[in-house]
Amino acid sequence: MTPLADRYGRRFPYLRLSIIPACNFRCTYCLPHGYHAEAGLAGPLSLDEIARLLRGFSALGMHKVRITGGEPSVRNDLVDVLRTAAAVPGVDKLAMTTNGTLLSRRLGEWMDAGLNAINISVDSLDRAAFARITGHDRLDDILHGVEMALAAGLPSVKLNAVLLRGVNDGELPRWLDYLRDRRVGLRFIELMQTGDNLAFFRDHHVRASVLESELQDAGWQALPRAADAGPAREYRHPDYAGRIGIIAPYSKDFCAGCNRLRVTATGDLRLCLFGEFGIPLRPFLQHDEQLDALVQAIGGQIGRKEQGHFLHEGRTGITPHLASTGG
Ligand code: 5AD
Ligand code: SF4
Repeated sequence: MTPLADRYGRRFPYLRLSIIPACNFRCTYCLPHGYHAEAGLAGPLSLDEIARLLRGFSALGMHKVRITGGEPSVRNDLVDVLRTAAAVPGVDKLAMTTNGTLLSRRLGEWMDAGLNAINISVDSLDRAAFARITGHDRLDDILHGVEMALAAGLPSVKLNAVLLRGVNDGELPRWLDYLRDRRVGLRFIELMQTGDNLAFFRDHHVRASVLESELQDAGWQALPRAADAGPAREYRHPDYAGRIGIIAPYSKDFCAGCNRLRVTATGDLRLCLFGEFGIPLRPFLQHDEQLDALVQAIGGQIGRKEQGHFLHEGRTGITPHLASTGG
């Protein structure tokens, strides 16, 4: 089967699958009042549905899956989800994005189930600021989990920090100390406007390019873009074990490097994080015999993927907050 490509020649080796919209945190930029179930929302995909979905994408050239939420560890069959994904032929990279609350307790089980890459949200290295941002005073335990993941030899350990003006935008020196001897990839993510966070966005959005200049002044060098690289710009420094990635959704080439598709917890295909529509795939996930129909449905819709998002114009699509689509 030929790999999936869109009208702009972009390919999609990477699928981000949300397995539950719920989250136990209440990050100020995402779910400031905590998660509240949407009335009438269908339950999340079952293990069988997930297996069929991933087999369909794999047939179209996908080989990396990221499990997201909400917070994926809120789902109590997470280990089975990981095992199911790892068993799909063609899947060679199984990643997960988590807020890290269960990391120190469950890491071993997750790795045994096939997890080989993890992204943990750590918006601040300051305990009080972390608690203010997330609503939970859990920084120390989460950082302990990060140390465990490094010690266990998990092949890819990344931390995500959303840049927030006046909250955590003065922490670069602290992060540099942290990265000196740790083989972690830190991602600074520029705050994105979503349907629900406009006032917050106006108060706290800061351009990632400000931080990028500070990095360059400190001798960090941009890595050449790999052909299969996603939207992050990567930096390294000879004196540091860690790396830094910049995710700047408002920068001009951001969408050109898009290599991912998303599926929500209820099985809607989202061609863009900020798209205007979802494409229900669940009807194609009810029997193993529907594989061809599923593949055709995905292939038939990919032409609707837009060249870029319309965030500059404040158009956030149908995404109220990133917990709904897995970020
Ligand atoms: N802007 C930027 N990043 C966000 N995330 C969640 N909401 C936003 C937003 N509005 C990040 C989380 C997590 C990842 C999945 O997405 O902090 O690290
Ligand atoms: Fe939960 Fe992630 Fe949203 Fe924070 S950003 S509330 S951890 S889904």
